[in-house]
Amino acid sequence: MTDAGSKRRPLVSGNWKMNFDHLQAIHAARDLGLRVQPADAGPVDISVHPPFTDLRSVQSVIEGEGLPIALGAQNCAVEDSGAFTGEVSAAMLAKLHVEYVIVGHSERRQLFGESDEVVAAKLKAVLRNGMTPIFCVGETVDEREVGLTRDRLASQVEHGLGAVPQGAVATMVIAYEPVWAIGTGQPATPEDAQEACSWIREVVARSVGADPAGQVRIQYGGSVNADNTEPLLRCADVDGVLVGGASLDAAAFVGIVRAAAIATR
Ligand code: 13P
Repeated sequence: MTDAGSKRRPLVSGNWKMNFDHLQAIHAARDLGLRVQPADAGPVDISVHPPFTDLRSVQSVIEGEGLPIALGAQNCAVEDSGAFTGEVSAAMLAKLHVEYVIVGHSERRQLFGESDEVVAAKLKAVLRNGMTPIFCVGETVDEREVGLTRDRLASQVEHGLGAVPQGAVATMVIAYEPVWAIGTGQPATPEDAQEACSWIREVVARSVGADPAGQVRIQYGGSVNADNTEPLLRCADVDGVLVGGASLDAAAFVGIVRAAAIATR
């Protein structure tokens, strides 16, 4: 839908999921810092998304060592404060200098029952607190097999965008994560990823207009590694990757960052 000449700056994000206690997280962040070269980070934005208990420690490493890496979170509460036992608010994350918050990951939707309405409320919370949501959408294998991929993506995107201020959409990140590709070692082909990301951009254009649709960054996620990153990022509508398993290994993650930087040339 867009030509490669007008591509957006790529965002490579590492979703650590429920891995690494705070001591392991400090080690991982330092390891990453030693490996990321300015030439890698120059053309690419990088974020890491540790568990809540690690955020303060990873923030200290990133800020103390001046690493070219943004701090991210994996989830947040709908409300900013109050009697919500066990929840962590977007306001609290913003205080820790978190810049990106993953919202509506399929594991949250499937394992913790997050509805499109809850996801929409979380998108609002992230934006209200001055951070960037990474808004995850994606179809299941069953939906894909019966030809419902486009309908599912359109419905998820429309629910989310319908809740946020129109002017904020251009600043958001949307992550296309087909559920069947997550943690399976079976990534979408670049052709499939491009088709889905182009469709998502079309739905954004239909919802809020062509300008924000041309600016919003759309990541692909699901079994990303250093070998498949460059072909994925050469697709006209794929503006980054959301990495699970491979982000737990600093060398593998930096390989992905490097491949993303090469794809910008
Ligand atoms: P994997 O890279 O392990 O497939 O996980 C993808 C993911 O869920 C990132 O949010």
